Amino acid sequence: MEEYLSIGEVSELLGKSKETLRRWDREGKFSAVREPMSNYRVYRKSEVQNLFSNFISQDIKETFSNFVEAENEYKVLELFAGAGGLAIGMEKAGLKCVALNEIDKFACKTLRQNRPNWNVLEGDIKVFDFSEYHNKVDVVTGGFPCQAFSYAGKKLGLADARGTLFYEFARVVKEVNPPICIGENVRGLLSHENGKTLQGMISILNEIGYNVIPVQVLKAINYNVPQKRERLILVGIRKDIAQKYEYPKPYNKIYHLKDALKKSELFNCNVPKSDGAKYPKSKIEVLDLVPQKGYWRDLPLDIQKSFMGGSFYLGGGKTGIARRIGWDEPCLTLTCSPAQKQTERCHPEETRPFTVREYARIQTFPDEWKFEGSLAQQYKQIGNAVPVNLGKEVGYSIVKFLNGYYDFLNSKS
Ligand SMILES: C[S@@+](CC[C@H](N)C(=O)[O-])C[C@H]1O[C@@H](n2cnc3c(N)ncnc32)[C@H](O)[C@@H]1O
Repeated sequence: MEEYLSIGEVSELLGKSKETLRRWDREGKFSAVREPMSNYRVYRKSEVQNLFSNFISQDIKETFSNFVEAENEYKVLELFAGAGGLAIGMEKAGLKCVALNEIDKFACKTLRQNRPNWNVLEGDIKVFDFSEYHNKVDVVTGGFPCQAFSYAGKKLGLADARGTLFYEFARVVKEVNPPICIGENVRGLLSHENGKTLQGMISILNEIGYNVIPVQVLKAINYNVPQKRERLILVGIRKDIAQKYEYPKPYNKIYHLKDALKKSELFNCNVPKSDGAKYPKSKIEVLDLVPQKGYWRDLPLDIQKSFMGGSFYLGGGKTGIARRIGWDEPCLTLTCSPAQKQTERCHPEETRPFTVREYARIQTFPDEWKFEGSLAQQYKQIGNAVPVNLGKEVGYSIVKFLNGYYDFLNSKS
């Protein structure tokens, strides 16, 4: 069977920009073809290998890519935008952020500082009316914080959810009426209130005119992120649309901490120096004794007892306590603070928490993306984010869906 490479993959392999590749295509120097199933412009893998064998030092490992080129300028409205992890991912996938809402003033400062042209709507989502975007946005996205609903009747309706941030998400989707909406959350939403919270959200989206695709939890390590983070994705498709949505396919390649902090396929230089939190002397003395990939169980027994206190006798793995990450493993999920007792993530060689720039790299933020506010504020913004590379792959899945939807609409008119 013929195998194809996307323009993004060929651009990466040859170290040539996509613009150059498009020019070569126009000039007939190196022509792309239409992939028979999707009709996207792609390159025959065999041809790339034959023509550029001297260029390509490594084998082409992945035989597919989620990359899809946007056929139109698609617009996204990003709610609960934080420091922009998901928004940058969307931008990298070719979507244009027309507006972003966020309540935290430091996160808003971060967004404005890095993208002065973005329309950042600062404040509580509850006070904003988004009807000016009615039918003008292709996708509404948002990582609404999870809250319990209070159930009046058997089935939760939009009005019953009033007062929650999911209500606000759904209210905005209703106001804007996009073809697709994407909610993003933690895996815990699956089991929150025995699954009732998620069911309630699905029935509300249904009520406002959206079919929800079976929910998936995506593992960031399968999407070019050197971190074992998971995100639950909730996809709603407007009911008048028949176009199929497919989640981004997972990649085989797993990146490790060294790929985040050192020059690698992910980053073209070592991580820049930056500020970072420090451990107190007493903690350094303990963590100095923990090897890479080790945790409190690797300490001498007497130190285990004194460090763990009463919880030493309580059982349970508690593998996040006194944890030192290894270079050759993906990092454990970063949290909003880099040095918490239950979720320690010590640097592999130095006895200290990750710096701000290291944190950002593990979340695949570009080095140029600066964070505003105190050190604690910066860690919080990074720890809260959707990893940029995961956002990008979800972005491609939206682009693919929208390309198909608008192709269908155009074919009818
Ligand atoms: C999980 S974070 C979102 C992260 C973001 N998607 C990213 O990738 O960087 C949730 C965000 O919702 C914001 N938020 C919480 N309540 C809000 C409200 N009432 N109105 C607007 N934003 C709110 C928080 O400040 C936080 O930044």
